[in-house]
Parts: sequence; structure tokens; C-alpha cells
Amino acid sequence: MRYVSDIAGKNDPTNRPRRKILLGITGGVAAYKAAELVRRLGDRGIEVHVVMTEAACGFITPATLQALSGHPVYTSMWDGRIDNGMPHIELTRDKDAIVIAPATADFIAKCVHGLADDLLSTLCLARDCPLIVAPAMNRQMWEHAATQRNVAQIRSDGVTVLGPDSGDQACGETGMGRMLEPEALAEGIAAFLAPKTLLGKRVLMTAGPTFEPIDAVRGITNRSSGKMGYAIARAAIAAGAEVTLVSGPVSLAAPVGAAMVRVQSAAEMFAAVQKHVAKTDIFIGVAAVADYRVAAPRKHKIKKTEEDQLRIDLLPNADILGWVASRPKPPFSVGFAAESRNLDRYADEKRRRKKVKLMIANLAQNAIGADDNEVSLMDDNGTHRLPRAPKDAVAVEIVRHIAALCSSTKRKPR
Ligand code: C5P
Repeated sequence: MRYVSDIAGKNDPTNRPRRKILLGITGGVAAYKAAELVRRLGDRGIEVHVVMTEAACGFITPATLQALSGHPVYTSMWDGRIDNGMPHIELTRDKDAIVIAPATADFIAKCVHGLADDLLSTLCLARDCPLIVAPAMNRQMWEHAATQRNVAQIRSDGVTVLGPDSGDQACGETGMGRMLEPEALAEGIAAFLAPKTLLGKRVLMTAGPTFEPIDAVRGITNRSSGKMGYAIARAAIAAGAEVTLVSGPVSLAAPVGAAMVRVQSAAEMFAAVQKHVAKTDIFIGVAAVADYRVAAPRKHKIKKTEEDQLRIDLLPNADILGWVASRPKPPFSVGFAAESRNLDRYADEKRRRKKVKLMIANLAQNAIGADDNEVSLMDDNGTHRLPRAPKDAVAVEIVRHIAALCSSTKRKPR
């Protein structure tokens, strides 16, 4: 079977509907961050339609949001662009959620009491989809007993509250009440919308490079930012999996909800995988593991004057993925192949040699360190190519593919 899948959902052979949200912007300084939020949601393949309150238009213009979302922006109950004249009903009927970001103290209070005196508050009352709010306000307003009562009430009404964060505020004060940063909000919204295809699955992953010490300061490593692996960990968590992430040295924030095991060398990575593998349903080896380690790393820094010529003996590292996949009862094993040429041939050879169910091939020169990637998924059914897209969107597709393969692969009982 060969097909080309489209991450954005257009031309998708499975006709999977694209996720759509209605983004409601209320009148707070954090409204400027809504523009960036629209971009970050778009990166994740989520279609955004914007509704703004009158006060929000004092902070950011509808024209900006229209340009970024690619859809008309609504601000009034009396907008004639909806055929039946009922924008307060129609605008949410094909949406997967309403997200209010930023959500002011006033708007949250209105939601609690079911007030409906403008388009956005009426949409919230007349909705048939979930509501997510991202509060943003001054710390005193956030801490006020009335706000705390209202937030507790909307939570118990089934509304999802994302944030707020603490930190510097536009008013010059510091404390709780800042809206979550757009990237974190987009992550939370994507997780909320993701189908829970890996619910109850335990996923063990490796990501990032390994570092093999030569002496106290030097070492051998492979180039790897860890971005692809971390994106897959986030997508797996969003799909309901319990993720243990064994990570080499990277400068990335840990995925929220992942059990992190931080390692340096391939030997440490292997030991961590050996420790956790027994309870694993799915193993995903994304790490760029160094093939060799230094036979006798020096404790102290080697001085340049010490030796004219420096010889370093190298010993091969264990093939972690190969070891996992060849266990008597292996988890569903997934590997990555980064090649600079003959990608399909080398990757498929690697898939067969390491006996993994799925090999994900990417061109090293396109993938390493970049924010987006173009990969081919190789399994027993053939090669499935994904178009170039942000790594977060690619990760969502990879997780979807793994979930589909897992559900069609009968595992022997342990
Ligand atoms: O290094 P190689 O190209 O064989 O790596 C392909 C796959 O094997 C990757 O998924 C990588 O994480 C994994 N690997 C591993 N242990 C090694 C080398 C590679 O798990 N020592």
C-alpha cells in the first residue's frame, strides 16, 4: 500500500476532518499574544476562527487576526455575513472547541453567571462544544476571592482552565495571572483536541544525542537537537500515552507529563532503557546514539603539550533499538534512520536488520536541528510519505500511524 498523507488534512485519503476551534479574544493586554497563538495552532494543523469582544479590538485589530487565521473575524451579534442572521449559534456548530485567550476576570464572571450581552458571551452560552479558557489578569484580580470563586465554578461546570502563569505583568507587578505563553497554550489546546489513540499505552522513548567523554572536558557526540523526539513525546502524551523519555543532553524544556530520565552517554541510555523496557508497550528510538565510545576516558583534561599525537581507542556501543526489538517478547518497536544519501534503501535495510515494525526515514541535512521535517514511514505495508511540516505536526502524524499499526498488530500475551 502506498499513499501520500497530508498533514493539514486537505487531500487526506482517510478524509479525517481537520480540527477547528473558535478563538475568542477578550480585552486584556495579553490580546497581543493571541496573534502568535493563531500561528502556533496553525503549526499543529488546527484551523482557527476568531471572534473578538469590543474591548479586545482596543488592543489588537480584527484585520491582524483575519490575516493570520485566513478567515473572517466576527465582533458583533448583528453581523450580516451569516446567512440565517444567527452568528451567536452558527459560529460554533462546526467547531471542536471554543478557546477564550486571553480570558479576563470579567469574561470569566460572565460565563459563570450565564450572561450573554455580546457575541462572544452568547456563543459560550449557546455552544454545543467544550470551552477552554486561558485567564490573563493582574495578580490582585486573580487572587481576589470573587475571581477564585468564579474559576472554581467554571471548572466544576466542566470548563477547562489553562494557566495562568506567574511572572512579570504588564502593570509592572509580578505574580500569578499572566496568560500562558502561546507555545504552551497551543500545546495544551492540541493535547485537549487530540484523539486518545494511545490511551493506557506505556511508551518508552530515547531522544537527543549521546555524549561519550574523551577526558574531563572533551567528548564525541552526534548532532541532534532532540526536537523531533520531544515533539513525538508530546504528541504521544496528548494521545493518552504514559511516556518515559530517556534523553541525552539537549537544551529543550521537558514535555509536560513525561517521566524524564536524563543521561549523557550511550551506556547510560542503554542502562535506562534496560531498566524500563519490561513495562513497555511501544518503544520509539529517536536518539542519535553515538556508535562508538572512548575505551579509556581520562579523568583529567589532556594537556596539549602532553602528547605530539593523540590516539584514542574506540569501542562499539550497544545497539539499543536492535536490542529492544530482538527481545523474546519485544514492545512494538519504532526506529529512526537519518541518512545523507540513498535514504529509502538504507532505511529499509535498517528496518529489516533491526527487526523493527516501523522505520522513520529522514534526510540528515533536512532534519537535524531544523524546526520542520519531511519523513517517510516504512512498515510491512510499504512507504508512507509525509510532506514537510513543523516537527510538532509531523509528530502527531507519526503517533497516529503508530497507534493504527499497534491496533492492527496482535501482541502475544506476556
Ligand atoms: O545509528 P543507526 O543509523 O543504526 O540508528 C538508527 C536507529 O537506531 C535510531 O532509531 C537510533 O535511535 C537507534 N540506535 C540505537 N542505538 C544505537 C544506534 C542507533 O538505539 N547504538
